[in-house]
Amino acid sequence: MSSSNPLRDAADRRLPRIAGPSGLVIFGVTGDLSRKKLMPAVYDLANRGLLPPGFSLIGFARRDWEDEDFAQVVHDAVKQHSRTPFREEVWQQLIQGMRFVQGNFDDDAAFEQLKATIQELDKAQGTGGNFAFYLSVPPKFFPQVVQQLKKHELADAPEGSWRRAVIEKPFGHNLASAQELNAIVHEVFAPDQVFRIDHYLGKETVQNILALRFANQMFEPIWNRSYVDHVQITMAEDIGIGGRAGYYDGIGAARDVIQNHLLQLMALTAMEEPASFDADALVAEKAKVLGAVRLPKDLGRSTVRGQYSAGWQGGEKAVGYLQEEGIDPKSKTDTYAAIKLGVDNRRWAGVPFYLRTGKRLGRRVTEIAVVFQRAPHSPFDHTATEELGQNAIVIRVQPDEGITVRFGSKVPGTSMEIRDVSMDFAYGESFTESSPEAYERLILDVLLGDANLFPRTEEVELSWNILDPIEEYWDKHGKPAQYPAGTWGPTEADEMLARDGRSWRRP
Ligand code: BG6
Repeated sequence: MSSSNPLRDAADRRLPRIAGPSGLVIFGVTGDLSRKKLMPAVYDLANRGLLPPGFSLIGFARRDWEDEDFAQVVHDAVKQHSRTPFREEVWQQLIQGMRFVQGNFDDDAAFEQLKATIQELDKAQGTGGNFAFYLSVPPKFFPQVVQQLKKHELADAPEGSWRRAVIEKPFGHNLASAQELNAIVHEVFAPDQVFRIDHYLGKETVQNILALRFANQMFEPIWNRSYVDHVQITMAEDIGIGGRAGYYDGIGAARDVIQNHLLQLMALTAMEEPASFDADALVAEKAKVLGAVRLPKDLGRSTVRGQYSAGWQGGEKAVGYLQEEGIDPKSKTDTYAAIKLGVDNRRWAGVPFYLRTGKRLGRRVTEIAVVFQRAPHSPFDHTATEELGQNAIVIRVQPDEGITVRFGSKVPGTSMEIRDVSMDFAYGESFTESSPEAYERLILDVLLGDANLFPRTEEVELSWNILDPIEEYWDKHGKPAQYPAGTWGPTEADEMLARDGRSWRRP
């Protein structure tokens, strides 16, 4: 709540946001996500002084580990993956609150042990009963873990404290399964106790979309169908599926990242200005856009799915998807997906949003390009503007974080020739502050109970509603188009845009 003193309010906003007494329980603590992202993020938060002194971390898994073995694993993960330098004194403090609970998810004794451990930490570390349960486990285990938390009275916060559930994607594999999952979770946890992770929302550049649009005056007046020709949202990866065959095969690119990351980027790009920057207002506006998304009538001509074949990437030979270990050699799973969407509202009517993503593409890059219409009239003759493209505002999400504005400029010389130039804002050049990792930001927000950056049930379900008909169409119609690893996807995707008289950007 704001006070009557605006200067004090401003100072308060600049104060670091520090979590109060609390702890985190990670289920699935032996997994990749936990080692590469969660453990380092906890350490980085501690290192930046954003965790309370008695912060506690409990790992829950099947492994036959003692507390010391768990601490060693966290130590190695931190040394290898943390963003900030290792400091022994921070580590020594963190280790005081580290515990390991061994057991299967159906093991009642293990959940009783977890309960006892939490009570012990409340006394020893002053965690005050405040715990978040991070479900970093395959979705088939969600119901069991959630039920166990209920059965052992871990989901209900003791008087004056809080309990929260953090859920990793995938939130189902279609609308029906997402609804089922949501029902199970909400049987145990109230909506404000549930934090669904979409790590793209934790990225600085993604949060900056709203700052760019709504903290400035010069972009928003042209951010609509009167000036914008189309929007391209690209999430390209150069990596293949790595060791994730078990998860990825049968899921594919569209379910893996369009349903969540790309549709969230689209919602932030297209939504109206929220009344305030709080979770309810943000969700309401994002949900309105997602609810207004219109699928093209002819899905065969306005969607493309692809699968990588063998090729060359970064000077090295890469095997095709079907040759990857653990993949069904007859798999029709998409490793590339491109779709064209419309938004049925006054701001965006008639403006296509092209979304594409793929593994083993030319290089790793995520960007949102708002491409503008050509000037309605040009006083220059045709030869002067021959090389001129369309104006664009490009939000560079990663890896070269920043914003580019593309526009035409006279080429120096004695004739009137106009060519595209860029005006760049780069985080590295404009700010001395470095960007926290997405998971740092999101874990801190969970501990603070700040839900702004977490998609709600409604958004998840609306997003499946968009994707389901596309997946059903793909299931019934043929196979994915092939593209060699290291290229920019199947030629069918180029043809899809060419039919609209447009082309994909080559970031
Ligand atoms: C995950 C997907 O959500 O995002 C992965 O499951 C993908 O397949 C990853 O590689 C990409 O994340 P980032 O932050 O590296 O762009």
